[in-house]
Amino acid sequence: MVVSGKKTMLLVLVSTFLLGLLSVSCLAELQRFEHAAKPDGSLSFLVVGDWGRKGLYNQSKVALQMGIIGEKLDVDFIISTGDNFYDRGLTGIDDPAFHQSFTDIYTAPSLQKQWYNVLGNHDYRGNVEAQLSPILTKMDSRWLCLRSFILNAGPDMAEFFFVDTTPMVDKYFIDPEDEVYDWKGVLPRENYIKNLLMEVESALRESTAKWKIVVGHHTIKSAGHHGNTVELGIYLLPIIQAYDVDLYINGHDHCLEHISSTESPIQFLTSGGGSKSWRGDIKWWNPQEMKFYYDGQGFMSVEMTQTEVDVNFYDVSGNVLHKWSTSKQLSSAM
Ligand SMILES: *[C@@H]1O[C@H](CO)[C@@H](O)[C@H](O)[C@H]1NC(C)=O
Repeated sequence: MVVSGKKTMLLVLVSTFLLGLLSVSCLAELQRFEHAAKPDGSLSFLVVGDWGRKGLYNQSKVALQMGIIGEKLDVDFIISTGDNFYDRGLTGIDDPAFHQSFTDIYTAPSLQKQWYNVLGNHDYRGNVEAQLSPILTKMDSRWLCLRSFILNAGPDMAEFFFVDTTPMVDKYFIDPEDEVYDWKGVLPRENYIKNLLMEVESALRESTAKWKIVVGHHTIKSAGHHGNTVELGIYLLPIIQAYDVDLYINGHDHCLEHISSTESPIQFLTSGGGSKSWRGDIKWWNPQEMKFYYDGQGFMSVEMTQTEVDVNFYDVSGNVLHKWSTSKQLSSAM
């Protein structure tokens, strides 16, 4: 009897341990990636959004200029702010749009770098798992797309927090019009959003990077066609303000835009000019905050060191339309 009592005890202990493991894995941390800076300690990258249209609507022209600027800045990687494939994401891993809109378009040698992609609302209208599939990475080694993840560059010079914003927007659930969204892996929605925000907050809290950059598809602040995304203002903005995020980078509005904030040092940068643009409906915005708005196609570059960040916006011809810089002191620990 004593022996079996011990066995029962052991079983209880083991199952308690397993349950513990299970609850830990439910609050899984965001997947992390690392990207080394250049030997001189600097880092540069391009940002493009809302692009996959098989080269049409000036997508190819933007790609050509990205190649030229990418070479000039010797970019380390490219960030895509989502809406990677129009109109309805990819149909599957064998959808030729992957080649027609990505591999065969961004062909310049300087763009043969790692691409870090998030999903946009149009991507959710297709087969989401296809875009997340490692099989795409096998077909084109530049491709990396996750719903949400963290990229540490430097090490610890810049930390990027890529956030899946589409599930946060009520409209796609309440009033999807005639569109069908692929919510596999997202439902129940409340849990998904709650966990994601907790993960982002804990990662921001623990970050020791000099520069903190949050990337999402949807706008927080924008004077463009879609305007502000109310849900992100409620869910995401308080977190990114609390942890001193330097830049919020997004797409969704098909324009190039820079809005600063009278309340915090954060800069809101929209790079959604990867293809179709010229929407023509611009809302009024406080001129004290509105630094730049361009309704046409283009992209953005960021160059950074431990102490300085330089942002540039370019049009389809590679002209610099807007420049912005900021600097920080090296911390005394360094
Ligand atoms: C392509 O870019 C040129 C130059 O900005 C512009 O005049 C033209 O309207 C654009 N085409 C489309 C389809 O947006």
